[in-house]
Amino acid sequence: MRAVLLERFGLDGLRETRDAPAAREPATGEVRVRMTAASLNYHDLATVLGMANPKMPLPQVPLSDGAGVVEAVGEGVTSLRPGQRVTTSFFPAWQAGAPGLAKLRQVTGETVPGAMQAQLVAPASAFVPAPEHLSDIEAATLPCAALTAWRAVVDEGQVRAGSRVLIQGTGGVSLFALQFAHMLGAETVVISSSDEKLALAESLGASHLINYKAQPRWGRAVREACGGEGVDMVVEVGGAGTLPESLNAVAIGAHISMIGVLTGVASMVPTAKIMAMNVTVRGITVGHREQFEAMNRAIALQGLRPVIGEVFGFAELGKALTTMQAATHTGKLCIDFDR
Ligand SMILES: NC(=O)c1ccc[n+]([C@@H]2O[C@H](COP(=O)([O-])OP(=O)(O)OC[C@H]3O[C@@H](n4cnc5c(N)ncnc54)[C@H](OP(=O)(O)O)[C@@H]3O)[C@@H](O)[C@H]2O)c1
Repeated sequence: MRAVLLERFGLDGLRETRDAPAAREPATGEVRVRMTAASLNYHDLATVLGMANPKMPLPQVPLSDGAGVVEAVGEGVTSLRPGQRVTTSFFPAWQAGAPGLAKLRQVTGETVPGAMQAQLVAPASAFVPAPEHLSDIEAATLPCAALTAWRAVVDEGQVRAGSRVLIQGTGGVSLFALQFAHMLGAETVVISSSDEKLALAESLGASHLINYKAQPRWGRAVREACGGEGVDMVVEVGGAGTLPESLNAVAIGAHISMIGVLTGVASMVPTAKIMAMNVTVRGITVGHREQFEAMNRAIALQGLRPVIGEVFGFAELGKALTTMQAATHTGKLCIDFDR
């Protein structure tokens, strides 16, 4: 069958094949899914480059996020039926509750085979039904970026009508966070490197826009945009380089969801500000199946549609990853298996 294999780290270590062994019949508790679409996350780029997990088993089928149609179900499977449209999950073993080592050990496209294959056999619990109003390409954007944003904004950040939320950037996680915050009735500040991308954020409901290239010390500007009080919640995708500025933007008692490492993995942080402002900094690793299902219900009820940046063909994974590396995109980069 058709698949992409990561044979060694680096973009040139990806190989497309039509001769991967055919998918087997699903065993007890498993399903076989015909994959139709996938989407990219920064984590996939880091995985392919060997930065995310240098000890991961190779060869491996890359990409955590995909969508498809259930083709066959094994004995005892009652949660899914043939013909049902589903998505993969980032942490297939994390069904509910607090995170733990065993729940986070399996990562789709890293420690277990990923979405870039024509058929995928896995436990039924590794798949989540897709919202009906979404295309397969749209549904494929949900497992990592959307769920991370949902957990940050809804579960950890406790955003509600009238909350003030700072969203860094206009990538996959950030635009979902903006859409969810807007859905909940929050006031939002989006910072971006580009005025064009800020215009897109405005069209999605962003209340205040700041170009962080033109205004590198944006923390105070964010606070002023929010009536001088600062924001109640931060969607922190920059990490090391942006956290000090986020601490200039927050209100007393704010929550910072520590999601990304785009500006590095360690830095000098003004810890006195965390103390004085009574701030909570919470690390986030995607989310679990129950949160995924709750998010899908909200997405379906609100008719929310993911923002798709660009769609590539199955043979164009390398090109898609290069586009992600260039960071010129907004929203999600996707793969259409029919192209
Ligand atoms: N912890 C988790 O569970 C989890 C889950 C998903 C993603 N992540 C992490 O979150 C980060 C974003 O992932 P993604 O998939 O959304 O990536 P993405 O689609 O590539 O988006 C990245 C965006 O971040 C913005 N950015 C870069 N540097 C910035 C800075 N200095 N200040 C503010 N914004 C900045 C850029 O926005 P502009 O172009 O508008 O400037 C860029 O478009 C990555 O580090 C990824 O590994 C973590």
